[in-house]
Amino acid sequence: MIPPIARRFVAGDTSASALSHARGVNDEGISVILNRLGEHHTTPEDVESDAAAYRSLADAIDRRGLDACLSIKPTQVGLDLSADRYVETLRSVVEYASDRDVFVWCDMEGSATTDDTLDAFREIAAEYPWSVGQCLQSNLKRTRADLEALLAVPGRIRIVKGAYDEPSSIAYVDRERVDEAYRRDVEFLLSNRDRGVAVGTHDPAMIGLARRLADEHGTDYQIQMLMGVREDAQRDLAEQGVDVAQYAPYGTRWADYFWRRVRERRANATFAIRAILGR
Ligand code: FDA
Repeated sequence: MIPPIARRFVAGDTSASALSHARGVNDEGISVILNRLGEHHTTPEDVESDAAAYRSLADAIDRRGLDACLSIKPTQVGLDLSADRYVETLRSVVEYASDRDVFVWCDMEGSATTDDTLDAFREIAAEYPWSVGQCLQSNLKRTRADLEALLAVPGRIRIVKGAYDEPSSIAYVDRERVDEAYRRDVEFLLSNRDRGVAVGTHDPAMIGLARRLADEHGTDYQIQMLMGVREDAQRDLAEQGVDVAQYAPYGTRWADYFWRRVRERRANATFAIRAILGR
């Protein structure tokens, strides 16, 4: 059972609850990105169990005709064992999902994983063009160069501000610098990639910027937001004809994800406390 404190942000503890959440969100004209909660798996059994769960989720999405895709954490499917193990497991999920027309996103975790994550993305995107996408984080100083290097890769790119604490030697740490880098990266992507750009943010200024730039450059793009965060804005954008996707995590391992949301923004803690008090 997901405790009341986390229910706003987590679509239940089973794939059945996540699929039923996806149906409801689809009914509002919003597509869904399903993430099975889990990270830093250090045994082959845990890695294979989550990979198998993603394959069966892809099957269910296809059978139910949902407008949904998957989003996977690299250390959930092998990166903490080895880079080769990650590539191999990611390939098994992408191959299975692409046969069913289900798209696979790869989340980006802490900076120690960035090189291996991007190498795997390049390799799998070359084998399964436009079936896989990669998240990059604007708080990392390296990201602009990474975006340039990925221009020729046939996969989608999601740009986010970054949720992991990183040292100032490699990352922008104050809010203004992160916002400035994010603005720059959104602008770069929307003016240099003609398809598959996803802007993962709840920030009204950044969403406005993305909409203006996409109109100007005629770029195909999607706004992505998290379950439980500005859901009214998600509906409003969808009603205005913007392509919107909601990232909805599910599963029993909710704690790390939930505390990341609370650290990000005090208002998220307030929502959680209200949920406990039933208000
Ligand atoms: P930020 O937190 O800077 O807030 C800017 C403004 O947005 C606020 O001033 C407010 O107006 C509005 N806002 C934000 N939160 C709100 C709330 N709870 N209620 C009301 N308004 C709010 N990170 C990562 O490191 N790796 C990853 O793979 C991903 N993946 C990912 C997927 C998707 C779909 C999303 C949306 C985000 C991620 N992230 C992520 C998380 C991301 O890096 C970032 O931490 C959060 O999105 C928060 O940053 P924002 O851009 O939303 O703005």
